[in-house]
Amino acid sequence: MADKITEMISEEEIVKRTCEIANQINEDYKGEEIHLICVLRGGSFFTCELAKHITLPVTMDFISCSSYGNDTKSSGVVRIVKDLSDSIVDKNVIVIEDVVDTGRTLSYLLKMLKDRQPKSLKLCSLLDKPSRRVVEVKTDYIGFTIPDKFVVGFGLDYAQKYRNLPFIGEIVPEDNN
Ligand code: IMP
Ligand code: MG
Repeated sequence: MADKITEMISEEEIVKRTCEIANQINEDYKGEEIHLICVLRGGSFFTCELAKHITLPVTMDFISCSSYGNDTKSSGVVRIVKDLSDSIVDKNVIVIEDVVDTGRTLSYLLKMLKDRQPKSLKLCSLLDKPSRRVVEVKTDYIGFTIPDKFVVGFGLDYAQKYRNLPFIGEIVPEDNN
């Protein structure tokens, strides 16, 4: 049997909501420059979509940390796989993530970035699963709040697959069917 994927949020809805968030950011940071930090790999599609609709001067950097194995369960271990290329001192940093789940990754990452003395530091996540939270995280911009389901698409993966789906879908992996 194949993995079963059911659409939860359409591409149109994602793009519309992303535009709204970009407009909010344009408003909140008027007259400022923004430094977007994309959390690889899941945040990549959302970062690109968001950046297209930001009208302020934007620079971008990428970081990769891992808290998951090839499974749908958190390992609880966070490690930096690829660090930023540039300094964030005195920059208006917005961290772009795919989903805040237990909050372990973001809590660790935000603390680490705060120590690097940015001018400001905010978090923007496409998805939020508040019912799964183990560590508290302050979310500044959220695309969609979703229930405790494992989702794929628009950057999110299951065992590195399905990131390229243009929509967000709930997945029931093959072995659970
Ligand atoms: P946290 O540290 O538990 O908040 O985990 C965050 C990371 O787990 C995200 O950046 C994703 O990479 C991954 N993750 C959590 N939930 C999902 C999901 O439903 N689909 C795909 N990846 C997920
Ligand atoms: Mg991620």
